[in-house]
Amino acid sequence: MIEDLQKIETEAQAALSGAATIDDLRTLETELLGKQAPLTQAKRQIASLDPSQRRDAGRSLNEARQRVEQSLGSRRSELARQERAVQLEGERLDLTEVANLDVVGHAHVVTQTWEALEDTFVGMGFRIAEGPEVETDWHNFDALNIPPGHPARDGFDTIYVNHGDPGSTLLRTHTSPVQIRTMLDQEPPIYIVAPGRVFRRDTADATHLPVFHQIEGLVVDRDISLADLAGTIEAFTEAYFGPGFSSRLRPNYFPFTEPSAEFDIQRPDGSWLELGGCGMVHPNVLRAGGIDPEQWSGFAFGFGIDRLALLKFGVDDLREFFNNDIRMLSQF
Ligand code: PHE
Repeated sequence: MIEDLQKIETEAQAALSGAATIDDLRTLETELLGKQAPLTQAKRQIASLDPSQRRDAGRSLNEARQRVEQSLGSRRSELARQERAVQLEGERLDLTEVANLDVVGHAHVVTQTWEALEDTFVGMGFRIAEGPEVETDWHNFDALNIPPGHPARDGFDTIYVNHGDPGSTLLRTHTSPVQIRTMLDQEPPIYIVAPGRVFRRDTADATHLPVFHQIEGLVVDRDISLADLAGTIEAFTEAYFGPGFSSRLRPNYFPFTEPSAEFDIQRPDGSWLELGGCGMVHPNVLRAGGIDPEQWSGFAFGFGIDRLALLKFGVDDLREFFNNDIRMLSQF
């Protein structure tokens, strides 16, 4: 009986060390320790032994069974460790690949456009101004001659922020509130441009994104006229787009400018592209900015930076700029 047990155990141990996977072990566990296993069957034989032999045989059997269980456990953790090591090796990232110094990144196409616009306007004598992305309803609307209930409010799909009185705080829908902040902050003469991020509750499609970029321009000085506005747009067009490009103004409506216009750029091939809005700063807006409209006048303009980049680089879907596909972005 004891010799039989030794044989069974030796075979069991050999089978365990031969197991190559955790799955193999699962099968072996039933074979070696399950109901039909020789070690389990042996227990029944003990009952039929002479009582003087039962004790020793019983102890040997229990010990053999324990050793097999132990081996099973340690083989299982060993295999688990091995399988994990194989998995880790497979998932390893070779970070030295990107340390290739020949591959140098560059600014995003929208950042490049933003910076080129700043350079152009700085070259024309403008200074750069900034304002917060989280704005008050007053700066974004009221001060810009858009009181509560004004239909122009519906044109902006405003994202409100849960702060203060309901509706009092929002993500700015345009860069125009920087006009107000600048006027409240400094005395005329004012010559600023304000590039920045703006937000609208729009579903992303080829020409809309809920987060996009605009650049605002504001001039306040003595005797500023519509001719100054048209001349500035024309000078910008030539400076930014190059020779052969020109501009035109078409009547339009904005609550914060009067008169208001849309401005278009003409390409050397004669085709027109719509760029943005502009106009003479409305007297109510000057007053909201603490400036006396009897003494000063001004003009403002604003247009989308992303849209400009789209047109300039001949891309037909705005979303392409923000998918973060390096193959797409590295072209620019
Ligand atoms: N804020 C306007 C818009 O977002 C653009 C604009 C700016 C129009 C300044 C006139 C003057 O559509």
